[in-house]
Amino acid sequence: MARLRITGLYKSYDSVQAVRGVDLDIPEGEFAVLVGPSGCGKSTMLRTIAGLEEPDAGTIEIDGEIVNDLPPRSRDVAMVFQNYALYPYMKVFDNIAFGLRARKFPAGEIKERVLAAAATLNISGLLDRLPRQLSGGERQRVAIGRAIVRDARLFLFDEPLSNLDAQLREEMRLEIKELHQRLGKTMIYVTHDQIEARTLADRVVLLNNGRIEQEGAPLDLFERPVNRFVAGFLGSPSMNFIPARLVAADESLAVTFEDGTALAVPAAAYERLAGRSGHDVIFGVRTEHISRARDGDTREGLAPLSATIDVVQPTGSRTYVTFRLSGTPVMAELRAHDVEHPGQRIELDVDMNRAILIDPETDLVL
Ligand SMILES: Nc1ncnc2c1ncn2[C@@H]1O[C@H](COP(=O)(O)OP(=O)(O)OP(=O)(O)O)[C@@H](O)[C@H]1O
Ligand SMILES: [Mg+2]
Repeated sequence: MARLRITGLYKSYDSVQAVRGVDLDIPEGEFAVLVGPSGCGKSTMLRTIAGLEEPDAGTIEIDGEIVNDLPPRSRDVAMVFQNYALYPYMKVFDNIAFGLRARKFPAGEIKERVLAAAATLNISGLLDRLPRQLSGGERQRVAIGRAIVRDARLFLFDEPLSNLDAQLREEMRLEIKELHQRLGKTMIYVTHDQIEARTLADRVVLLNNGRIEQEGAPLDLFERPVNRFVAGFLGSPSMNFIPARLVAADESLAVTFEDGTALAVPAAAYERLAGRSGHDVIFGVRTEHISRARDGDTREGLAPLSATIDVVQPTGSRTYVTFRLSGTPVMAELRAHDVEHPGQRIELDVDMNRAILIDPETDLVL
Protein backbone atom coordinates (compact mmCIF):
# COMPACT_ATOMS: atom_id res chain seq x y z
CA MET A 1 0.00 0.00 0.00
CA ALA A 2 1.28 3.38 -0.78
CA ARG A 3 0.60 7.04 -0.77
CA LEU A 4 1.61 8.78 -3.98
CA ARG A 5 2.61 12.40 -3.95
CA ILE A 6 3.55 14.36 -7.05
CA THR A 7 4.86 17.89 -6.76
CA GLY A 8 5.51 20.43 -9.53
CA LEU A 9 5.79 17.84 -12.29
CA TYR A 10 6.89 18.95 -15.77
CA LYS A 11 7.72 16.77 -18.75
CA SER A 12 8.27 17.71 -22.37
CA TYR A 13 9.29 15.81 -25.48
CA ASP A 14 11.24 18.05 -27.85
CA SER A 15 8.80 20.89 -28.50
CA VAL A 16 5.74 19.24 -26.89
CA GLN A 17 4.99 20.11 -23.27
CA ALA A 18 3.13 16.97 -22.20
CA VAL A 19 2.86 17.69 -18.45
CA ARG A 20 2.94 21.30 -17.28
CA GLY A 21 3.03 21.66 -13.52
CA VAL A 22 1.01 18.88 -11.89
CA ASP A 23 0.57 18.54 -8.12
CA LEU A 24 -1.27 15.45 -6.98
CA ASP A 25 -1.65 13.70 -3.64
CA ILE A 26 -3.26 10.26 -3.69
CA PRO A 27 -3.79 8.72 -0.24
CA GLU A 28 -2.96 5.11 0.49
CA GLY A 29 -5.51 2.67 -0.94
CA GLU A 30 -7.32 5.19 -3.11
CA PHE A 31 -8.60 4.49 -6.62
CA ALA A 32 -7.79 7.58 -8.70
CA VAL A 33 -8.95 7.88 -12.30
CA LEU A 34 -7.20 10.20 -14.77
CA VAL A 35 -9.42 11.47 -17.56
CA GLY A 36 -8.97 14.09 -20.26
CA PRO A 37 -8.85 14.55 -24.02
CA SER A 38 -6.42 12.64 -26.20
CA GLY A 39 -2.90 14.04 -25.88
CA CYS A 40 -3.50 15.80 -22.54
CA GLY A 41 -0.64 13.92 -20.84
CA LYS A 42 -2.29 10.95 -19.11
CA SER A 43 0.09 8.26 -20.37
CA THR A 44 3.05 10.55 -19.79
CA MET A 45 2.00 10.95 -16.16
CA LEU A 46 1.78 7.19 -15.64
CA ARG A 47 5.07 6.54 -17.41
CA THR A 48 6.79 9.13 -15.29
CA ILE A 49 5.39 7.63 -12.08
CA ALA A 50 6.56 4.18 -13.22
CA GLY A 51 10.02 5.55 -13.97
CA LEU A 52 9.90 4.99 -17.72
CA GLU A 53 10.21 8.73 -18.38
CA GLU A 54 12.37 11.15 -16.49
CA PRO A 55 10.63 14.37 -15.42
CA ASP A 56 12.14 17.74 -16.41
CA ALA A 57 11.18 19.10 -13.00
CA GLY A 58 9.24 18.00 -9.94
CA THR A 59 9.28 15.11 -7.49
CA ILE A 60 7.52 11.78 -7.28
CA GLU A 61 7.15 10.44 -3.79
CA ILE A 62 5.91 6.98 -2.84
CA ASP A 63 5.31 6.48 0.86
CA GLY A 64 7.35 9.55 1.69
CA GLU A 65 10.35 8.39 -0.32
CA ILE A 66 11.38 10.43 -3.35
CA VAL A 67 11.77 7.88 -6.14
CA ASN A 68 12.97 10.17 -8.97
CA ASP A 69 16.35 8.46 -9.01
CA LEU A 70 15.11 4.89 -8.61
CA PRO A 71 14.98 2.69 -11.74
CA PRO A 72 11.50 1.36 -12.63
CA ARG A 73 12.07 -2.11 -11.20
CA SER A 74 12.99 -0.72 -7.77
CA ARG A 75 9.85 1.41 -7.48
CA ASP A 76 7.59 -1.57 -6.79
CA VAL A 77 4.99 -0.29 -9.23
CA ALA A 78 2.98 -2.53 -11.59
CA MET A 79 1.74 -1.05 -14.84
CA VAL A 80 -0.66 -2.13 -17.56
CA PHE A 81 0.31 -0.31 -20.75
CA GLN A 82 -2.06 1.23 -23.25
CA ASN A 83 -0.49 -0.91 -26.02
CA TYR A 84 -0.06 -4.06 -23.85
CA ALA A 85 3.73 -4.36 -24.44
CA LEU A 86 3.75 -8.17 -24.24
CA TYR A 87 6.93 -10.11 -25.02
CA PRO A 88 6.16 -11.49 -28.50
CA TYR A 89 8.26 -14.67 -28.26
CA MET A 90 7.03 -15.72 -24.83
CA LYS A 91 3.94 -17.77 -24.25
CA VAL A 92 1.12 -16.26 -22.24
CA PHE A 93 2.18 -18.15 -19.10
CA ASP A 94 5.71 -16.80 -19.33
CA ASN A 95 4.51 -13.29 -20.08
CA ILE A 96 2.46 -13.30 -16.89
CA ALA A 97 5.23 -14.99 -14.91
CA PHE A 98 7.96 -12.65 -16.12
CA GLY A 99 7.91 -10.15 -13.26
CA LEU A 100 7.77 -12.89 -10.65
CA ARG A 101 10.76 -14.70 -12.16
CA ALA A 102 12.70 -11.46 -12.28
CA ARG A 103 12.00 -11.14 -8.55
CA LYS A 104 13.14 -14.73 -7.95
CA PHE A 105 9.87 -16.16 -6.70
CA PRO A 106 9.93 -19.98 -6.21
CA ALA A 107 8.59 -21.94 -9.19
CA GLY A 108 5.65 -23.41 -7.25
CA GLU A 109 4.42 -20.03 -6.14
CA ILE A 110 4.83 -18.59 -9.65
CA LYS A 111 2.64 -21.34 -11.06
CA GLU A 112 0.01 -20.85 -8.37
CA ARG A 113 -0.17 -17.12 -8.91
CA VAL A 114 -0.24 -17.29 -12.70
CA LEU A 115 -3.03 -19.88 -12.68
CA ALA A 116 -5.06 -17.82 -10.22
CA ALA A 117 -4.66 -14.63 -12.25
CA ALA A 118 -5.51 -16.48 -15.47
CA ALA A 119 -8.68 -17.88 -13.88
CA THR A 120 -9.73 -14.42 -12.73
CA LEU A 121 -9.22 -13.04 -16.22
CA ASN A 122 -10.79 -15.98 -17.99
CA ILE A 123 -7.67 -16.85 -20.00
CA SER A 124 -6.76 -20.21 -18.44
CA GLY A 125 -7.09 -21.91 -21.82
CA LEU A 126 -4.63 -19.55 -23.50
CA LEU A 127 -1.52 -20.02 -21.36
CA ASP A 128 0.37 -21.99 -24.06
CA ARG A 129 -0.22 -19.48 -26.85
CA LEU A 130 1.99 -16.70 -28.14
CA PRO A 131 0.68 -13.11 -28.08
CA ARG A 132 0.28 -13.04 -31.88
CA GLN A 133 -2.16 -15.95 -31.59
CA LEU A 134 -4.50 -13.86 -29.41
CA SER A 135 -7.23 -11.33 -30.15
CA GLY A 136 -6.77 -7.73 -29.01
CA GLY A 137 -9.05 -8.24 -26.02
CA GLU A 138 -7.21 -11.42 -24.98
CA ARG A 139 -3.86 -9.63 -25.18
CA GLN A 140 -5.25 -6.89 -23.03
CA ARG A 141 -6.26 -9.41 -20.39
CA VAL A 142 -2.80 -10.99 -20.44
CA ALA A 143 -1.33 -7.53 -19.84
CA ILE A 144 -3.64 -7.06 -16.85
CA GLY A 145 -2.65 -10.53 -15.60
CA ARG A 146 1.02 -9.59 -15.72
CA ALA A 147 0.34 -6.64 -13.45
CA ILE A 148 -1.98 -8.29 -10.95
CA VAL A 149 0.19 -11.37 -10.18
CA ARG A 150 2.60 -9.03 -8.48
CA ASP A 151 2.17 -7.57 -5.02
CA ALA A 152 3.20 -4.12 -6.16
CA ARG A 153 2.47 -1.27 -3.80
CA LEU A 154 1.10 0.90 -6.59
CA PHE A 155 -0.88 -0.16 -9.67
CA LEU A 156 -1.01 1.93 -12.84
CA PHE A 157 -3.55 1.09 -15.55
CA ASP A 158 -3.45 2.87 -18.92
CA GLU A 159 -6.84 2.33 -20.61
CA PRO A 160 -6.76 -1.39 -19.84
CA LEU A 161 -10.25 -2.13 -21.17
CA SER A 162 -10.26 -0.07 -24.36
CA ASN A 163 -10.13 -3.04 -26.74
CA LEU A 164 -12.77 -5.19 -25.12
CA ASP A 165 -16.34 -5.58 -26.32
CA ALA A 166 -19.09 -4.01 -24.23
CA GLN A 167 -19.94 -7.12 -22.22
CA LEU A 168 -16.37 -8.12 -21.42
CA ARG A 169 -15.64 -4.55 -20.52
CA GLU A 170 -18.40 -4.58 -17.96
CA GLU A 171 -17.18 -7.87 -16.51
CA MET A 172 -13.59 -6.66 -16.32
CA ARG A 173 -14.66 -3.39 -14.76
CA LEU A 174 -16.26 -5.37 -11.99
CA GLU A 175 -13.12 -7.53 -11.67
CA ILE A 176 -10.93 -4.48 -11.33
CA LYS A 177 -13.22 -2.96 -8.73
CA GLU A 178 -13.19 -6.23 -6.77
CA LEU A 179 -9.45 -6.45 -7.13
CA HIS A 180 -9.13 -3.01 -5.62
CA GLN A 181 -11.44 -3.88 -2.75
CA ARG A 182 -9.62 -7.14 -2.12
CA LEU A 183 -6.06 -5.80 -2.32
CA GLY A 184 -6.76 -2.31 -0.99
CA LYS A 185 -3.86 -1.05 -3.13
CA THR A 186 -3.44 2.46 -4.44
CA MET A 187 -4.45 2.47 -8.09
CA ILE A 188 -4.15 5.08 -10.81
CA TYR A 189 -6.31 4.32 -13.78
CA VAL A 190 -6.54 6.13 -17.12
CA THR A 191 -9.71 5.92 -19.18
CA HIS A 192 -11.71 7.68 -21.86
CA ASP A 193 -14.87 6.03 -20.66
CA GLN A 194 -17.03 8.20 -18.42
CA ILE A 195 -18.92 5.25 -16.98
CA GLU A 196 -15.64 3.60 -15.99
CA ALA A 197 -14.47 6.82 -14.41
CA ARG A 198 -17.66 7.30 -12.45
CA THR A 199 -18.04 3.72 -11.26
CA LEU A 200 -14.42 3.00 -10.36
CA ALA A 201 -13.07 6.25 -9.00
CA ASP A 202 -12.81 7.45 -5.44
CA ARG A 203 -11.29 10.51 -7.06
CA VAL A 204 -11.41 11.76 -10.64
CA VAL A 205 -8.53 13.89 -11.89
CA LEU A 206 -9.42 15.79 -15.05
CA LEU A 207 -6.39 16.81 -17.12
CA ASN A 208 -6.26 19.21 -20.05
CA ASN A 209 -3.14 20.40 -21.86
CA GLY A 210 -0.84 18.87 -19.26
CA ARG A 211 -2.54 20.51 -16.29
CA ILE A 212 -5.20 19.50 -13.78
CA GLU A 213 -8.47 21.34 -14.42
CA GLN A 214 -10.25 19.89 -11.40
CA GLU A 215 -10.08 16.87 -9.11
CA GLY A 216 -12.51 15.41 -6.61
CA ALA A 217 -15.20 12.80 -6.08
CA PRO A 218 -16.85 11.91 -9.42
CA LEU A 219 -20.20 13.45 -8.49
CA ASP A 220 -18.51 16.59 -7.22
CA LEU A 221 -16.97 17.30 -10.60
CA PHE A 222 -20.22 16.50 -12.33
CA GLU A 223 -22.40 18.64 -10.10
CA ARG A 224 -19.97 21.42 -9.22
CA PRO A 225 -17.63 22.00 -12.17
CA VAL A 226 -15.32 24.96 -11.65
CA ASN A 227 -15.11 26.01 -15.30
CA ARG A 228 -16.55 25.54 -18.74
CA PHE A 229 -14.05 22.86 -19.74
CA VAL A 230 -14.94 20.60 -16.81
CA ALA A 231 -18.67 21.22 -17.26
CA GLY A 232 -18.48 20.33 -20.94
CA PHE A 233 -16.11 17.36 -20.64
CA LEU A 234 -18.03 15.36 -18.06
CA GLY A 235 -21.48 14.06 -18.92
CA SER A 236 -22.76 12.47 -22.07
CA PRO A 237 -24.34 14.00 -24.09
CA SER A 238 -22.37 17.14 -23.22
CA MET A 239 -23.86 20.06 -21.38
CA ASN A 240 -25.66 22.66 -23.52
CA PHE A 241 -24.07 26.12 -23.54
CA ILE A 242 -26.11 29.12 -24.65
CA PRO A 243 -25.03 32.80 -24.72
CA ALA A 244 -27.26 34.87 -22.41
CA ARG A 245 -27.42 37.88 -20.13
CA LEU A 246 -28.28 38.15 -16.45
CA VAL A 247 -31.00 40.74 -15.90
CA ALA A 248 -32.55 42.11 -12.70
CA ALA A 249 -36.23 43.12 -12.64
CA ASP A 250 -38.19 44.14 -9.52
CA GLU A 251 -36.60 42.03 -6.81
CA SER A 252 -35.98 39.11 -9.15
CA LEU A 253 -33.24 37.91 -11.42
CA ALA A 254 -33.52 36.17 -14.79
CA VAL A 255 -31.33 34.64 -17.47
CA THR A 256 -32.42 36.27 -20.72
CA PHE A 257 -31.61 35.36 -24.30
CA GLU A 258 -31.35 37.49 -27.41
CA ASP A 259 -34.78 36.40 -28.69
CA GLY A 260 -36.41 37.69 -25.48
CA THR A 261 -36.84 34.33 -23.73
CA ALA A 262 -36.32 34.63 -19.96
CA LEU A 263 -35.69 31.92 -17.35
CA ALA A 264 -36.12 32.91 -13.70
CA VAL A 265 -33.14 32.39 -11.39
CA PRO A 266 -34.06 30.58 -8.12
CA ALA A 267 -34.13 32.87 -5.08
CA ALA A 268 -31.37 30.87 -3.40
CA ALA A 269 -28.91 32.09 -6.04
CA TYR A 270 -29.79 35.81 -5.93
CA GLU A 271 -27.15 36.81 -3.46
CA ARG A 272 -24.34 34.99 -5.26
CA LEU A 273 -25.29 36.41 -8.66
CA ALA A 274 -26.70 39.86 -7.84
CA GLY A 275 -23.43 41.66 -8.61
CA ARG A 276 -23.45 40.18 -12.12
CA SER A 277 -26.77 41.58 -13.26
CA GLY A 278 -26.49 43.40 -16.58
CA HIS A 279 -23.54 41.21 -17.61
CA ASP A 280 -23.19 38.66 -20.38
CA VAL A 281 -23.04 35.05 -19.20
CA ILE A 282 -23.04 31.60 -20.73
CA PHE A 283 -25.99 29.55 -19.59
CA GLY A 284 -25.12 25.86 -19.09
CA VAL A 285 -27.69 23.12 -18.66
CA ARG A 286 -27.43 19.35 -18.96
CA THR A 287 -29.75 17.42 -21.25
CA GLU A 288 -31.33 15.58 -18.31
CA HIS A 289 -32.26 18.82 -16.55
CA ILE A 290 -34.74 19.83 -19.22
CA SER A 291 -37.97 17.86 -19.01
CA ARG A 292 -41.46 17.93 -20.45
CA ALA A 293 -43.64 20.18 -18.27
CA ARG A 294 -46.11 18.18 -16.20
CA ASP A 295 -49.22 19.43 -14.46
CA GLY A 296 -48.82 19.45 -10.73
CA ASP A 297 -45.01 19.49 -10.82
CA THR A 298 -44.37 22.28 -8.36
CA ARG A 299 -40.70 21.61 -7.63
CA GLU A 300 -38.93 24.82 -6.76
CA GLY A 301 -36.67 26.30 -9.41
CA LEU A 302 -38.39 24.99 -12.54
CA ALA A 303 -38.55 27.60 -15.30
CA PRO A 304 -41.04 27.12 -18.16
CA LEU A 305 -39.83 27.13 -21.74
CA SER A 306 -41.72 26.56 -25.02
CA ALA A 307 -39.88 24.83 -27.84
CA THR A 308 -40.44 23.58 -31.37
CA ILE A 309 -38.71 20.24 -31.73
CA ASP A 310 -36.29 19.88 -34.65
CA VAL A 311 -34.98 16.32 -34.25
CA VAL A 312 -36.26 13.32 -32.26
CA GLN A 313 -33.87 10.48 -31.36
CA PRO A 314 -35.54 7.63 -29.42
CA THR A 315 -33.06 5.38 -27.57
CA GLY A 316 -35.54 3.03 -25.90
CA SER A 317 -36.17 4.23 -22.39
CA ARG A 318 -35.29 7.86 -23.13
CA THR A 319 -35.79 10.15 -26.11
CA TYR A 320 -33.31 12.85 -27.08
CA VAL A 321 -34.75 15.91 -28.75
CA THR A 322 -33.09 19.00 -30.16
CA PHE A 323 -34.60 22.44 -30.52
CA ARG A 324 -33.30 25.99 -30.85
CA LEU A 325 -33.13 28.42 -27.99
CA SER A 326 -32.49 31.89 -29.36
CA GLY A 327 -30.77 30.33 -32.37
CA THR A 328 -28.51 27.94 -30.43
CA PRO A 329 -29.19 24.19 -30.80
CA VAL A 330 -30.09 22.61 -27.45
CA MET A 331 -30.50 18.94 -26.63
CA ALA A 332 -32.86 17.59 -23.99
CA GLU A 333 -33.34 14.08 -22.64
CA LEU A 334 -37.05 13.36 -22.29
CA ARG A 335 -39.07 10.27 -21.40
CA ALA A 336 -39.75 7.74 -24.15
CA HIS A 337 -43.19 8.96 -25.27
CA ASP A 338 -42.87 12.66 -24.44
CA VAL A 339 -42.63 13.71 -28.10
CA GLU A 340 -44.40 12.28 -31.14
CA HIS A 341 -42.76 13.95 -34.12
CA PRO A 342 -40.39 16.69 -35.30
CA GLY A 343 -42.05 20.08 -35.67
CA GLN A 344 -44.13 19.51 -32.55
CA ARG A 345 -44.47 22.46 -30.17
CA ILE A 346 -44.09 21.41 -26.53
CA GLU A 347 -43.80 22.95 -23.09
CA LEU A 348 -40.62 22.19 -21.18
CA ASP A 349 -39.32 22.81 -17.67
CA VAL A 350 -35.71 23.81 -17.10
CA ASP A 351 -34.33 22.84 -13.69
CA MET A 352 -32.63 26.11 -12.79
CA ASN A 353 -31.22 24.67 -9.56
CA ARG A 354 -28.99 22.41 -11.63
CA ALA A 355 -28.11 24.88 -14.38
CA ILE A 356 -24.88 26.90 -14.23
CA LEU A 357 -23.75 30.32 -15.35
CA ILE A 358 -20.30 30.90 -16.76
CA ASP A 359 -18.33 34.13 -17.07
CA PRO A 360 -17.55 34.31 -20.84
CA GLU A 361 -14.30 36.18 -20.18
CA THR A 362 -12.72 33.78 -17.68
CA ASP A 363 -14.70 30.60 -18.47
CA LEU A 364 -15.15 30.18 -14.70
CA VAL A 365 -18.46 29.05 -13.25
CA LEU A 366 -20.13 31.89 -11.34
N1 LIG B 1 7.72 9.80 -27.07
C1 LIG B 1 7.16 10.95 -27.43
N2 LIG B 1 7.78 11.83 -28.23
C2 LIG B 1 7.23 13.01 -28.58
N3 LIG B 1 6.01 13.41 -28.16
C3 LIG B 1 5.31 12.58 -27.36
C4 LIG B 1 5.84 11.31 -26.95
N4 LIG B 1 4.93 10.71 -26.15
C5 LIG B 1 3.89 11.56 -26.08
N5 LIG B 1 4.13 12.69 -26.79
C6 LIG B 1 3.22 13.86 -26.90
O1 LIG B 1 2.95 14.32 -25.57
C7 LIG B 1 1.59 14.69 -25.44
C8 LIG B 1 0.94 13.85 -24.34
O2 LIG B 1 0.91 12.52 -24.75
P1 LIG B 1 0.29 11.35 -23.87
O3 LIG B 1 0.61 10.07 -24.54
O4 LIG B 1 0.72 11.51 -22.47
O5 LIG B 1 -1.29 11.69 -24.00
P2 LIG B 1 -2.56 10.87 -23.49
O6 LIG B 1 -3.32 11.82 -22.61
O7 LIG B 1 -2.14 9.58 -22.93
O8 LIG B 1 -3.39 10.68 -24.85
P3 LIG B 1 -4.31 9.43 -25.32
O9 LIG B 1 -5.61 9.60 -24.62
O10 LIG B 1 -4.45 9.66 -26.79
O11 LIG B 1 -3.60 8.13 -24.99
C9 LIG B 1 0.96 14.49 -26.81
O12 LIG B 1 0.96 15.75 -27.46
C10 LIG B 1 1.88 13.51 -27.49
O13 LIG B 1 1.88 13.73 -28.89
MG1 LIG C 1 -2.43 7.62 -23.50
